[in-house]
Amino acid sequence: MDGNGRWAKQKGLLRVVGHENGTKSVREVVEASAELGIKNLTLYAFSTENWNRPKIEVQKLMKLLVKSLKKEIKTLQDNNIKLSAIGNLNDLPKNAHSELLEVIDKTKENNAMTLTLALSYGSREELINVVKELSNKVKNNIISSDSIDESIINKHLYTQNLPDVDLLIRTSGEQRISNFLLWQIAYAELYFTPILWPDFRKADLYDALIAYQNRERRFGKTSEQLS
Ligand code: FPP
Repeated sequence: MDGNGRWAKQKGLLRVVGHENGTKSVREVVEASAELGIKNLTLYAFSTENWNRPKIEVQKLMKLLVKSLKKEIKTLQDNNIKLSAIGNLNDLPKNAHSELLEVIDKTKENNAMTLTLALSYGSREELINVVKELSNKVKNNIISSDSIDESIINKHLYTQNLPDVDLLIRTSGEQRISNFLLWQIAYAELYFTPILWPDFRKADLYDALIAYQNRERRFGKTSEQLS
């Protein structure tokens, strides 16, 4: 969800106003995804690197998170959406952490769609944790190193309950991954749009999905093999 800061700057507003308007796009994209029957939507809301931003901006983002969670619990319940989160959640301020856990608990029986928020998330940190956990298990003879395969690694990731990513959308014209789900996007289709996140609306999500539908996902095979 990139481009909040630039959106605000273009309008002569404070960066935090960009983030506030970004929450409207979050609502649109969540609603549109649920309407379309998408089973999993993951939003990169705050990276491990984002802690290095000015303190006032970090505080505002955390406040926005709490406000959005309080406000949107009804939308989640009405649309049968389960909330989930990935990342180093213990890094979050206490009130944000407890509000998050509360909404996760209240929506745990919902099953139309899983909305996952990546918060204090960094893919390299996630992978480092996997390596540490697996090496401990090998050291303690719980598993053998020979048994380590893709499925064991998947089971140790934050995303253990999620399938691989099919489509990754990045807004604002930047064409990079920025430490997001590096393992999980191995075969994802990448879609970059110049639209700044606060301007991203349902129609823009549909454009991304249409582009995705027109891709040929070969997973290493030839086109002929697929047909
Ligand atoms: C990146 O834009 C955006 C973020 C770091 C925060 C995303 C947060 C929201 C959309 C609002 C809160 C989210 C939830 C889930 C309630 P940027 O600030 O890097 O923009 P720039 O690159 O133009 O400076």
